[in-house]
Amino acid sequence: MLSKSIKDNNSFKPIFFDIKIESEYNKLSSLLKSNPSIEILDEIKGQLEELLKLKNPKKKFTTDELKQEIKKHLNNTPIKSYGVWVYYPWLNKLIHLLAENEFIEVRTNRNQYKITPDEKEILATKKIGIIGLSVGKAIAITMAMERICGELILADFDIIELSNLNRIQTGVQNFGVKKTIVVAREIAEIDPYLKVTCLHDGLTEQNVNDFFTKDGKLDICIEVCDGLYTKIFARQKAKELGIPVVMNSSDRGTTDIERFDLDPSLPILHGLIDHLDLSLVKEAKTNEEKVPYLLPMLGVETSSERLKASMLEIEETITTWPQLASGVVFGGGICTDVCRRILLNQFTNSGRYFVDTEQHINNNVTDYISANQLKEEQINLIPKTNLEDYADTLKEANEKLFNKNNDASCELTNTEVEELVKYAIMAPSGGNVQPWKWLFKDKILMLFNDINRCESILNYKNTASLISLGAATENLILKAHQMEYEVEINKFPLGIGNDLITTFNFLKNKTKTTEEHLHDNLIDVVPKRLTNRNLSKKVDLKEEDESYFHEVVNSINGAELKIFKDVNQIEKLKEILAEVDKLFMTNKTGHAHFIHEIRWTKKEVEETRDGIDINTIDLTPAERAGLIVAKNWNVTKHIKKWKLGNEFGKLSKKAVDSAAALGMITMPKFDADNFFEGGRAVQKLWLAATEKGIAFQPMSISTFLFAKVGDNNFDDIEEIKDEMTTQYDKLKEITGMAENQKDVFFFRLASAPEPKIKALRRHVEDVLMYE
Ligand SMILES: Cc1cc2nc3c(=O)[nH]c(=O)nc-3n(C[C@H](O)[C@H](O)[C@H](O)COP(=O)(O)O)c2cc1C
Repeated sequence: MLSKSIKDNNSFKPIFFDIKIESEYNKLSSLLKSNPSIEILDEIKGQLEELLKLKNPKKKFTTDELKQEIKKHLNNTPIKSYGVWVYYPWLNKLIHLLAENEFIEVRTNRNQYKITPDEKEILATKKIGIIGLSVGKAIAITMAMERICGELILADFDIIELSNLNRIQTGVQNFGVKKTIVVAREIAEIDPYLKVTCLHDGLTEQNVNDFFTKDGKLDICIEVCDGLYTKIFARQKAKELGIPVVMNSSDRGTTDIERFDLDPSLPILHGLIDHLDLSLVKEAKTNEEKVPYLLPMLGVETSSERLKASMLEIEETITTWPQLASGVVFGGGICTDVCRRILLNQFTNSGRYFVDTEQHINNNVTDYISANQLKEEQINLIPKTNLEDYADTLKEANEKLFNKNNDASCELTNTEVEELVKYAIMAPSGGNVQPWKWLFKDKILMLFNDINRCESILNYKNTASLISLGAATENLILKAHQMEYEVEINKFPLGIGNDLITTFNFLKNKTKTTEEHLHDNLIDVVPKRLTNRNLSKKVDLKEEDESYFHEVVNSINGAELKIFKDVNQIEKLKEILAEVDKLFMTNKTGHAHFIHEIRWTKKEVEETRDGIDINTIDLTPAERAGLIVAKNWNVTKHIKKWKLGNEFGKLSKKAVDSAAALGMITMPKFDADNFFEGGRAVQKLWLAATEKGIAFQPMSISTFLFAKVGDNNFDDIEEIKDEMTTQYDKLKEITGMAENQKDVFFFRLASAPEPKIKALRRHVEDVLMYE
């Protein structure tokens, strides 16, 4: 009863039937008739569902939609005959699978973009030979899973035995089966389309040419066998043919790479056995004879201590050297990774490498990242500016501005000055950089550009700073009026380009040069104004609000407001904003700007009191995680290289989708005064929107980059010059901007819930100086 059963120990090739072809249909029918015990497995629907989902990654299909999509995809082919039926003789199973291209597309989909589509195509043309299938099995299976080649040639003469099962991943049902067959079957079960050729006698002098060159030369030879002679002669052949050799011993992740393809003069095995007579190797039978060759080859010096100690016990208490499953499986991963990079020309060295986990992960390692460090973040504080930083300007100001009689000016107390500045700095600023520094001296309040806070790609010719300084000025005037002071402002008193932006003189009575009292009521909403980035449902903008906004903006000389409500126009503008965001974020300088502008943690928010708190952006958890990942330029660099990055435009798209309208403020000219006055108009409008309960969010990356287009000055964003120019032309056309209109600010208006978090400002004492 228990005599040895006849089992199929030889088949390893699956048989394909495309039953749309009549002859194949007939063949399959007769197979099923002659072998009624065949088990049939039909999961084609699941495969099609996966295929269609991954072809539409943005879409979340309902069950019904997916059904419809499958129907469309089948295009009248009955689902039973779609794809192929594959018969696995050794399993006695008939399995319904997608045809080759679709099967590979779904099976390797999760490789993308660790392997890009272009790389995948290159790898599919590669051919790898493996000699020895212990570590070799782990390598072959990992390579097949990862699909780093289109063809594998497997050479081993051995069979599976019980003592193999500590390191070779297979089962007791395979005792007595050739290792080549076990591996080839497993690969066919993972991917029947991957070509596998077996040399069941191992590598021999008879088949060596087949192994290396039949139907095209190998791209890589993996040598992981025990045979001393095979090790050497395989390398001699590889060297002669210019084929790289990779070897992995499962001890300490030792990996040898010999690039005979790049350097035909390379000695085999790094020259470690050059001193030995290789002609004697073939005759070496006993351990005594083999050891002189094996020790240098395997690098006895660099082996792990346990392997060294075990070597002394060979043929005493153990039969051969030990190997662990962890090392073997690891070797599979290492070799696959290394070979992929070799095949893609991403790695060119020859040499012996160690990937020793014990060396990298142990109690004595000091450069690991502790749980505390993982949580700790580095905080970059912008240096403080002091009086000395403005020494030259002050000297000039003393000569030119403080020699005049200012008896009519009011004496302000320090408390009053602080109150004025406190209100002024509630103004918005790009990235909340707060580009201001104030000095009160001899009845005059001076507003400086903070020289440590103007270095930004979005601050071309100080444009963004001037908007903020204009906005702060508007706040200050409103506050002074509330405190019953008349205000005289003297813009750019030392000329354009000087850090002194404006001076404020406070008087008790109106004069021809004091500021008018237009919209003084807006002071009430100065503390309430904020950037509202919250998303919500789209609602319409009221006519009366819109005309109020026009009135407020027009009160600043030269300022004009454009409001966009037309759906088509909004859609087009949305595409521009998203495209510019993408270009900006995938540009190294732009990316750095964005990353530095964000305050990623509560601690960072509180210590810097500037920047944009990530919690003030309405992000889904996935978007937030995405931003955190994209923080690293090396990550974003890949996205750029692969010509991806639409995700970076998504936030703007969502913001526009929930907006009631988009808007733009224009000024007649591109110069410092126009940006400063533009800033005053921005602030008045923003306050008016706050008064009307309308959410306001600048969307200004494009505006400040377009400033460069107008001037044709791109500095370090030269690479996006053409694209920027195109996008700016589109913007001008869509918005109907005239020659004498220069966009200084772009924003969205929405009806959105009030944000829970307000952006902080630096303390008054940090921005106000006295002399
Ligand atoms: C010149 C300028 C450009 C800005 N650009 C943007 C922008 O592109 N996107 C955005 O969400 N906020 C933008 N803001 C808003 C600032 O980030 C915001 O004013 C700052 O973080 C302070 O927050 P608060 O306005 O809530 O007080 C901009 C503000 C100014 C003055």
